[in-house]
Amino acid sequence: SNGCPSPAIGVGPSYRPDAEKPTATVSRKVDQSNVHILPQTPQLIALLTMIRDKDTQRADFIFYSNRIIRLLVEEGLNHLPVVPHTVTSPVGKDYTGVKFEGKICGVSIMRAGESMEQGLRECCRSVRIGKILIQRNEETSLPKLFYEKLPPDIKDRWVLLLDPMLATGGSAIMAVEVLKNKGVPEDRILFLNLIASPEGIKNFAEKVPKVRVITAFVDQGLDDKNYIVPGLGDFGDRFYTLD
Ligand code: URA
Repeated sequence: SNGCPSPAIGVGPSYRPDAEKPTATVSRKVDQSNVHILPQTPQLIALLTMIRDKDTQRADFIFYSNRIIRLLVEEGLNHLPVVPHTVTSPVGKDYTGVKFEGKICGVSIMRAGESMEQGLRECCRSVRIGKILIQRNEETSLPKLFYEKLPPDIKDRWVLLLDPMLATGGSAIMAVEVLKNKGVPEDRILFLNLIASPEGIKNFAEKVPKVRVITAFVDQGLDDKNYIVPGLGDFGDRFYTLD
């Protein structure tokens, strides 16, 4: 990790005096301009606290991670272009607004990324969703592409790439390469992620600098097994394994 300690700040509503706010660890800041960290609000910090707790049971883990995923999707959608759109309201007056321009699709990195599909569907009705399966070779520890199923017109779409944990960045970078080989330009890919490591952010931004990363939190670092610390353990296990 980059050796810079995680900042601890008083968290709570602005009407509370600072001295009465509990101190919580918030996300590190990063230098990369294509990385967007969600505002470290009391809500977000409370949701992250729930899913990081080793004693949080599966039903609650799913519920609270879904709420963070919704925040990530909503923020990701803010990066899509809009065009002018004026409508007439039921009282006969015009409202000058906007509408989304362009088609989108989701691409989940299996298995853990599939946990983010529902949050995407809740925000984008009937969205197309593709899948990529990448697994690390146990001996070489290099990521390998095992399976892909993507919309045939993916090169004409904005892609929301889904993976909850950005550890070393190996799988996410390989997934972006798969998308680029299908003709998707880097700057039309948004990578949505719950918790990232500084190492993963750096590696990802060096290899695919134009992909925008939307993350809820940049953590301290990685341990010797490439788990994010403090992290939340194995996201896929906690989301999918029956208690
Ligand atoms: N994937 C996970 O699920 N957790 C980590 O900490 C790192 C990668």
